[in-house]
Amino acid sequence: MARVLDTASIVFPRGDEPNPFVQYRHLLHSYHVARAHDMADDDYVALVRSLDDQVARVDGRGFRITPFARSAALSEHLGFATDGGVWVKDETGNVSGSHKARHLMGIMIYLQVLERIGLVRPPLPTLAIASCGNAALAAAVVARAAGRALQVFIPPDAPLAVVDRLAQLGAHTTVCRRDPGVRGDPCYLQFREAARNGALPFCCQGTANGLTIEGGETLGYEMIATQGVPALDRVVIQVGGGALASAVVQAFTESVALGVSTRLPRFHTVQTRGAFPLKRAYDRLAHRILEAGTADGSLQRELRYAATHRSEFMWPWEEEPRSIAHGILDDETYDWFASVQGMLASGGGPVVVDERLLVEAYDLARETTGVNVDHTGAAGLAGLLQLGREGVVGPRENVAVILSGVQRGA
Ligand SMILES: Cc1ncc(COP(=O)(O)O)c(C=O)c1O
Repeated sequence: MARVLDTASIVFPRGDEPNPFVQYRHLLHSYHVARAHDMADDDYVALVRSLDDQVARVDGRGFRITPFARSAALSEHLGFATDGGVWVKDETGNVSGSHKARHLMGIMIYLQVLERIGLVRPPLPTLAIASCGNAALAAAVVARAAGRALQVFIPPDAPLAVVDRLAQLGAHTTVCRRDPGVRGDPCYLQFREAARNGALPFCCQGTANGLTIEGGETLGYEMIATQGVPALDRVVIQVGGGALASAVVQAFTESVALGVSTRLPRFHTVQTRGAFPLKRAYDRLAHRILEAGTADGSLQRELRYAATHRSEFMWPWEEEPRSIAHGILDDETYDWFASVQGMLASGGGPVVVDERLLVEAYDLARETTGVNVDHTGAAGLAGLLQLGREGVVGPRENVAVILSGVQRGA
């Protein structure tokens, strides 16, 4: 699901406001809903700041624009020229240690706006999410900050440290076991069941709550707005459920529509050999497009076909996925379409990496950038290493990767 901005009536925000949800408020649906209901700009900003203060009380930090800079050491190591290189977006210092909280903050601001303008009244529904790691922790922080009850559906092997922290944050956890006869992630299936029974999807899948994407888009807006960054040639993004890639693709696409960027970077999504449902979907659609030829309107027809025949392109991975990058092992790429569309529109493509490369990228990221990232968070860099080996990336290109997901307990 994608929200559509009226780009003709919006100017891309500039300025040095450090809170991304204040800085980019004109690009958020919640802001336009608030303003349409006569909420003053100052009141919206005050609501965001007050929620952010609560987040900082719970997590020790609020939302601040995160660093995005060229890593000289990494660029040199990979043989880039001085006018090219690797640009690193470091999300490990974000709320709860990853970009995930951005998605959930976007939803929470929207929920609080609805309350403020009187469109919803107590009792408010319980919030629900399925996750065993970064998304669950992020949801628990933001829900706690807003004083909302949260139910988290977790697998039996969820790390103890995560389970403990969820309990500390007051989240209710339900352990979900795999039933060999049922395809798909059991946590996600139970989460869907809870949503059917009235819980509100407070999640990082746009298919269950489309508004989760726009909070994630702040990450892309920050990359676009960073001073001194040349036009990026490629953005390489690790993909699990697909919300991050979908958000980044949409942010860049909007920046072209808003006249801030002249062209899209090539988008590359990265999955592991353990499970690559997005590449499977991409290959199927690319094949159809090739078969359809170049007749007028055929590309649009094929895209429309894919968007309306999801199950022919995306279905749960057949085997239980395994990888050291366990945060991107989703059975399904829920938000698959925007990413595939973004790759096709930009001339990018999907990358699949093996375990050896994931370990290499993890070591390299930590050594060259000093960022305390985990294997999931360095998977985008593994994708760049793979593209480099395939000879796809030139030495004068500027390529962005997102190091998200702090290494816990290190
Ligand atoms: C650190 C990190 N990076 C990237 C991702 C992928 O995000 P998405 O599931 O939206 O594709 C995740 C998902 O859990 C993650 O934890």
